[in-house]
Amino acid sequence: MFPEKLHRKLESRKTDNALRELGKSNDLVDFSSNDYLGFSKNETIFKASHALLNEQNMLQNGATGSRLLSGNHKLYPIVEKQLANFHNSESALIYNSGYDANIGFFASVPQRGDIILYDAYSHASIRDGMLMSHAKAYKFMHNDLSDLETLLIRFTEGSAHDKQHIYVVTESVFSMDGDSPDCIRLVNLCKKYAAYLVIDEAHGLGVFGKHGGGLIQHQGLEKAVFARIVTYGKALGCHGAAILGSDLLKQYLVNFSRSLIYTTALPPHSLATIHASYTALEQTQTRQKLKENIQFFKSEIIKNQLQKLFIESDSAIHCCIISGNDRVKHIAKHIQNSGFDVKPILSPTVSKGQERLRFCLHAYNTEAQISEVLKLLAPLVTS
Ligand SMILES: Cc1ncc(COP(=O)(O)O)c(C=O)c1O
Repeated sequence: MFPEKLHRKLESRKTDNALRELGKSNDLVDFSSNDYLGFSKNETIFKASHALLNEQNMLQNGATGSRLLSGNHKLYPIVEKQLANFHNSESALIYNSGYDANIGFFASVPQRGDIILYDAYSHASIRDGMLMSHAKAYKFMHNDLSDLETLLIRFTEGSAHDKQHIYVVTESVFSMDGDSPDCIRLVNLCKKYAAYLVIDEAHGLGVFGKHGGGLIQHQGLEKAVFARIVTYGKALGCHGAAILGSDLLKQYLVNFSRSLIYTTALPPHSLATIHASYTALEQTQTRQKLKENIQFFKSEIIKNQLQKLFIESDSAIHCCIISGNDRVKHIAKHIQNSGFDVKPILSPTVSKGQERLRFCLHAYNTEAQISEVLKLLAPLVTS
């Protein structure tokens, strides 16, 4: 027995050639994982995290409870201090994942009567958090700061404004596009209209910044941002997330953020891995290699005359628009059969007509692999 309504929804996904399935592991050349720096398989990080656990005498498999009860083991304050220092932030609060951090923030911080202005392409975790909030949310067009300003003007006119706070949320790198907002202009707009700026740095951490601290740190804007969300399942190659902000914000979240309060804390091993991954970020070599690969990929796009199809990006994510689920799936399959793991991004994940092939670049990709994969792509999309 299975509910008929759910059955119909699955059937409709099949009709649209958009049925999602769990991924399979493969031995193809990796142009799809979020492991931009190769940290997930880095032996030095693996060994350093175990050494830290031994040093702290923490031979313990689980956290045993919520952070508000028995789960706040001694690695939490150690790692949160490390994060605050590294990110030039007053405080850091670790969550179990980026998804938890975003729903925990948006469900608890904006209050009834407040306004959230969000980029139209915001990640599902931001949207889900906003759905749980009593504040009203309005989207601005993707990376369109003039559109954002129109909304800011609208919501700061009149006397209602005295009682309401405005939160502006966007991402430093958009996960399905790879592009970034103009952060300096964004900060200035938020200052001008007294709005609280929130930036999701999931795909900026490890990629931008002198020590890989993210796009906001790269531009020296830390103090102008109310909250930054950094996640550890991408460039840091492990798991978990943190919200960076003031001591008061941390105290507020500890009291009111339900996805922090009502869940078992991360095991010590996760915290030790975050600690070791941040230490590894300090070494420039791997980040430099990633940067070189990003530049090389961009030059190969031009060489293959594909620039009209690719979304402009300086990040590790590069997307080639190929309209239609059938077409993008077909082309992805062809490239996969030639040994490269590239993923088609289908509607409804992106809007109809904007389906795309998404290339995630890594420090460990070789120039030969990059040249080869784009050479394979070119005749398939330009003919
Ligand atoms: C922009 C953005 N924010 C948040 C998340 C969620 O992070 P996590 O995978 O740690 O739950 C993701 C991951 O897909 C993301 O791309």
